[in-house]
Amino acid sequence: MKKIVLIGAGGHSRVVQDIINALGYSIMALVDNKFEKVNEIDGIKYGPTSLVKEIKYNGEDIFLVIAIGSNVIRKRIFTELSIPAEYYATLIHPSAIVGSNVEISFGTVVMPNAVINANSVIGNHCIINSAAVIEHDNVVDSYVHISPKAGLAGNVNVMEGAHLGIGANVIPGVKIGSWSVIGAGATVIENIPNSVVAVGIPAKVVKNLDVKEGNNE
Ligand SMILES: CC(C)(COP(=O)(O)OP(=O)(O)OC[C@H]1O[C@@H](n2cnc3c(N)ncnc32)[C@H](O)[C@@H]1OP(=O)(O)O)[C@@H](O)C(=O)NCCC(=O)NCCS
Repeated sequence: MKKIVLIGAGGHSRVVQDIINALGYSIMALVDNKFEKVNEIDGIKYGPTSLVKEIKYNGEDIFLVIAIGSNVIRKRIFTELSIPAEYYATLIHPSAIVGSNVEISFGTVVMPNAVINANSVIGNHCIINSAAVIEHDNVVDSYVHISPKAGLAGNVNVMEGAHLGIGANVIPGVKIGSWSVIGAGATVIENIPNSVVAVGIPAKVVKNLDVKEGNNE
C-alpha cells in the first residue's frame, strides 16, 4: 500500500486526502508551515515543511504529493525541495476516466469524474479538477490547473502554469499561453498569449500579469 506524504493542509489538500482514501492508500505525514512542531495523531505525522526532508523515500511505497492549489507555489516547492521526480505519486481518483495512450506525469492529481481522452499528455504537478474534460490529443504542460467542469476540446495546448477557471471552455486547436489565467465560465476561441488574464465569451484579454511566472494563486 502506498503511503503518501502530503505537502499542504488547506482546502485543496482535503480533497486530495479524500482521493488518497478512495485509492486505499494511507497518509503518512501532512506537512505545512502552519504546524510549528512535529506531532503524531492516529499514525499521521503533522509538522512544518522541513519534515519532508527527514523522511526516507524509496520509490516503492512512500511518495510525496504537493497538495497546494497555486500553480506558482507548486512549482516553487518542487524546485526548492530538489527531491527526485520518481518520489512523487500521481493520484487518479477511481471515478476518473483515462483514455487510451494517455500520459500523466508525476505529482499530478486527477479528481473525481474528470475525463482525459485518447492521446492526451499531461505534465507534472497538474491539477485536473472534478469533472473537468480534456478531450483527445491535448497537450497540458506542467503546473497547469484545469478547474472543476472546465473543458478542453481536441488538440488544445495549455502551456506551463496556466489556470483555467471553473467552467471555462476551449475550442479545438487553441493554445493557452504559459501562466495565463482564463476566467470562470469563459469560452476561448483564439490563442491566448503568455501571462495574461482573459475573461468572457468569447474570451478577451483584460490584464497583463507582470510576474513572468504568473500570479494566479
Ligand atoms: C478571471 C479572474 C482570475 C480575474 O480576477 P482578477 O485578476 O482579480 O480580476 P478583476 O476581478 O479585477 O476583474 C477584471 C475584469 O474582468 C471581469 N471579470 C472577472 N472575472 C470574470 C469572469 N469570470 N467572467 C467575466 N468577466 C470577469 C471583472 O468584472 C472586471 O471587469 P471590469 O474591469 O470591467 O470591472 C477571476 O475573476 C476568475 O474568474 N477566477 C476563476 C477562479 C476559479 O475558477 N477558481 C477555481 C478554483 S478550483
